[in-house]
Amino acid sequence: MDELIFEAASRASDYLAGLESRRVAPTPEAVERLKLIDIPLQDAPLKPLDVLRELDEIASPATVASAGGRYFGFVIGGSLPAALAANLLAGAWDQNAVLQVASPAASALEEISRKWLLSLLGLPGGSGVGFVTGATMANFTGLAAARHALLERQGWDVEARGLFGAPPITVVVGDEVHVSLLKALSLLGLGRERVVRVPVDGQGRMRPDALPNLSASTILCLQAGNVNTGAFDPSAEIIPVARQAGAWVHVDGAFGLWALACPSCSKLAEGIEQADSLATDAHKWLNVPYDNGLAFVREPMHLRAAMSASAAYLIEVGQREPNHYVPEMSRRARGVEIWAALRSLGRSGLADLVERNCHQARRFAEVFRLAGYEVLNQVVLNQVLVSFGDPARTREVIRRVQEDGTCWCGGTEWQGRTAMRISVSSWATSDADVERCLEAILRVAKG
Ligand SMILES: Cc1ncc(COP(=O)(O)O)c(C=O)c1O
Repeated sequence: MDELIFEAASRASDYLAGLESRRVAPTPEAVERLKLIDIPLQDAPLKPLDVLRELDEIASPATVASAGGRYFGFVIGGSLPAALAANLLAGAWDQNAVLQVASPAASALEEISRKWLLSLLGLPGGSGVGFVTGATMANFTGLAAARHALLERQGWDVEARGLFGAPPITVVVGDEVHVSLLKALSLLGLGRERVVRVPVDGQGRMRPDALPNLSASTILCLQAGNVNTGAFDPSAEIIPVARQAGAWVHVDGAFGLWALACPSCSKLAEGIEQADSLATDAHKWLNVPYDNGLAFVREPMHLRAAMSASAAYLIEVGQREPNHYVPEMSRRARGVEIWAALRSLGRSGLADLVERNCHQARRFAEVFRLAGYEVLNQVVLNQVLVSFGDPARTREVIRRVQEDGTCWCGGTEWQGRTAMRISVSSWATSDADVERCLEAILRVAKG
């Protein structure tokens, strides 16, 4: 066993060391070689060391180097060294974070992380926190609590009776709502097309003057960090109006919520702490390994009511039974990595991480503008949208940047314009990486 674990650690270490010099996207040849393991399953067992060697030799070269500092696609984030190391140790633990009795350590690490997170983000200290797979499930979890609360007020037990014949709920979203929130609504039986969409401004922010009438049977979904522009809905203006009307306010802050941890950007999220539920990803800007998301609910009783399940054999002993806060029963002990990330960063480390990435995003924008390219968004956070000319030209530059391999940036359509997206969200991105990638992008764009 020792030899195997050391071999795995050594191969992982070599992989990480190689990130600096390798291209970001795998070569077509490396992807082609994946076919070598696409074989019928053999009959006899294989030695674990041989399995590991095969996996590393064939699959490692076909990975995308998103753990390195030159990946700017989607909003991916990296893995902080302490979080990755904790993930390796937790793999050995193989804990089931279903119940405290199944893993006192998992339950305690979640509870400690819950308290640290609420304090760090300035959210109400009594909030319930669910450790889920990502923002999609965090949105689902927060919205399930909302559905419970709104229908309970009207004397309807939605967990028991479902939505058949239930009093109607109106869901209000901004026109630039993230598709994952719509997916969560569809899973909850609230319907992705039944929503009322509020017009947005040129940055994708919900327009407060265009809000419909809200009531005690409304779920209002705000966004903290648009996936393209990084813009925030104006919570400070909207949430008091919604609360006055008795509406439930849910915030999708998949990456933007982390602005709350950074004094120089927290103004963007002003007022957000008044929300009833919030969703974020830890695998994005907290830089813990996949998969890791967080659902916050101000009044935990609604979350527990929406998520609880009980059976005689499920022994409940503790203050925190992890399964009371999430859709799953058995699951990975995700709090381990969150605890390790927070413990290693501290408050100032997290603020520095967010601040540094925002600064790097501004540097990208500045150099693009100086080179004569149009930056389509106000770079308020870590997202940059740049156009290299007409749509075909911009798409061609994106294709060639990806092919070049120095960095990886994706494309998008933003309010009718084609753009390259740059999302800076990793601790591993150094200022030198930014300059190296700028040089490569401008070289490709001019070529
Ligand atoms: C605003 C927003 N919400 C939700 C999500 C979905 O996150 P996940 O893929 O982690 O479920 C994303 C992903 O980028 C996002 O940007």
